Amino acid sequence: MSESRTDSPPPPPPPQPPPKSSLMPSLAVTLLSILAPILAVIILFRREPFDPAPLPLHELPGTVSAPLVNSRVLRGAETVGAGRVAGPEDVAYDPASGVIYVGCADGWVKRVKVSDSAGDSTVEDWVNTGGRPLGLAFGRDGELIVCDPYKGLLNVSKHGTVELLTDEAEGVKFKLTDAAAVARDGAIYFTDASYKYTFGEFIWDVLEGRPHGRLLSYDPATKETRVLARDLYFANGIALSPDQSFNVDLGFFRRRCKRYYINGERKGHIDTFISSLPGYPDNIRYDGEGHYWIALSSGNSWSWDLAFKYPFIRKAAAILERLNRRPAMEKNSGVFQVDSEGTPVAHYYDPQLLLISSGNKIGNYLYCGSLHYPHILRLKLD
Ligand SMILES: *[C@@H]1O[C@H](CO)[C@@H](O)[C@H](O)[C@H]1NC(C)=O
Repeated sequence: MSESRTDSPPPPPPPQPPPKSSLMPSLAVTLLSILAPILAVIILFRREPFDPAPLPLHELPGTVSAPLVNSRVLRGAETVGAGRVAGPEDVAYDPASGVIYVGCADGWVKRVKVSDSAGDSTVEDWVNTGGRPLGLAFGRDGELIVCDPYKGLLNVSKHGTVELLTDEAEGVKFKLTDAAAVARDGAIYFTDASYKYTFGEFIWDVLEGRPHGRLLSYDPATKETRVLARDLYFANGIALSPDQSFNVDLGFFRRRCKRYYINGERKGHIDTFISSLPGYPDNIRYDGEGHYWIALSSGNSWSWDLAFKYPFIRKAAAILERLNRRPAMEKNSGVFQVDSEGTPVAHYYDPQLLLISSGNKIGNYLYCGSLHYPHILRLKLD
């Protein structure tokens, strides 16, 4: 059969659908626009190989408070070395020369000569490690011990010569050498926050939630590196007690500091120095006057606490991190002061403050290093 062509006029257009049913396509579009992202998230989530671990965190930590609180420290703060020190993570002070040493994001260890008027301080590029200097401590011979996550534990002599002291222990290389303290007998105690992720990847260590950190010691006489404690969760700060009997070391995730006994009856034991900190600790420094200063990279937040409790939240955060879309969860950064027993004394912070990484009391001032700012922050302590 062949189609017959007729000259009859084209058929009238079909009647317009009643206006009501025009809702149908738009309803479908709406549903699709809701379901598609959910589906995409489910697919992304299932295909994401990153596998965060549950932390041994049975309940969310509480929060201790300090008798003295300054929650607006930025109001009275000064900047030192403005624009000349990029991300000065740690701040070390040499009382003999009155010079402050900082380790910067561009690999430079800089020397800052501070003046009473913060703006008159001078900054000198001293030594470049070729990596990213983090924790700093003075050795017994006036040298500067530098923790460089990309290099290891470095000795920078008074004359600026850089020498690698150690970069592995028990056959495992360091990936995030982070902080050091030197004992009176010359022994160097230091941390490798992670053997798995290096500095630029530290967020992955935090999100993964497995203990890749170690507390180590280096003996300059024998050149021996020893592992004192292993399986630590992002151990990133270290300080020696005034009587050199223990050092305290930090537990980022659980907002606490642990104490490792170097000698005496409890030698080799670990206990808790302070828990339920009002934030996530970074460096800790003893000031020689009975107090430790603990930098809090961020004030505690529900989102981080929940993320530490539930691995699936960290997995979701990891997916967002890959997409460069992880929401900022940091705020209220600052410094927490405790006495030699770990009893809270003061808390200095500000809602605007980000990623403060160290606090060093020099004279009547608190000098704060950070991973974020191009200057040292100076607060007058009254
Ligand atoms: C670092 O090097 C200087 C100069 O060579 C030396 O005097 C000092 O003892 C060294 N420090 C360590 C911990 O090896």
